[in-house]
Amino acid sequence: MLTDLIFRKIDEPWAVERMRQIYSETMSSLATHPIPERGPISQQEWWKSLDQSKVQAFLYAPINRPWEFIAFSIVQKKHEHFTTPIFAITPKEHGKGYGEQILRHYLFVANGPLAGEDSLSNPAIAHLNDRNGWQVLGIDEKGVRKLYHPGYRDLSEEQQQVAYDEIVRYHGYGKEN
Ligand SMILES: CC(C)(COP(=O)(O)OP(=O)(O)OC[C@H]1O[C@@H](n2cnc3c(N)ncnc32)[C@H](O)[C@@H]1OP(=O)(O)O)[C@@H](O)C(=O)NCCC(=O)NCCS
Repeated sequence: MLTDLIFRKIDEPWAVERMRQIYSETMSSLATHPIPERGPISQQEWWKSLDQSKVQAFLYAPINRPWEFIAFSIVQKKHEHFTTPIFAITPKEHGKGYGEQILRHYLFVANGPLAGEDSLSNPAIAHLNDRNGWQVLGIDEKGVRKLYHPGYRDLSEEQQQVAYDEIVRYHGYGKEN
């Protein structure tokens, strides 16, 4: 899964700050809707405000530069039956194949169904999502794709259906099919 990267849990203020720096550098392509700029203090406050039992976050470094953290991922359990992921790589490290490795790592960390979004204006992530099992439930007028992933977990068909229905509702499509 991670062949070129090592990872460590985000559990200390310096790691929370490193996540903020990468977030700031990638904000324009990271989000599918406007997201707030964060300073160092508000970043720490935001982190403390999260229910830590529902958050798993990691920094990543190239295996041959283990001191240099170049990416983060965060998986949040926002609903009973699914999680939502975000990840980003610092711009100078784009195009090296790290994105897919981190994507597969967060799918593993999520340990079950996920809801997500990507944007047609960010073809690299759409390409990686399509190749790694994300399914498109719909596309809005801004070109934002509403996504579902069954996750890496051996759930019963009934459990998967419950999660799927909840994700469809989360994306605002109501109970369908
Ligand atoms: C999007 C992101 C994760 C991609 O990671 P990356 O390691 O730079 O990805 P790569 O450049 O190695 O490219 C991944 C794939 O997309 C393809 N790709 C890149 N740009 C593309 C484009 N404009 N059109 C189509 N495909 C494209 C690459 O060819 C590659 O495909 P391949 O593996 O089949 O060769 C990274 O650029 C990033 O962190 N961006 C900012 C934050 C973000 O967008 N996060 C995701 C949303 S949560």
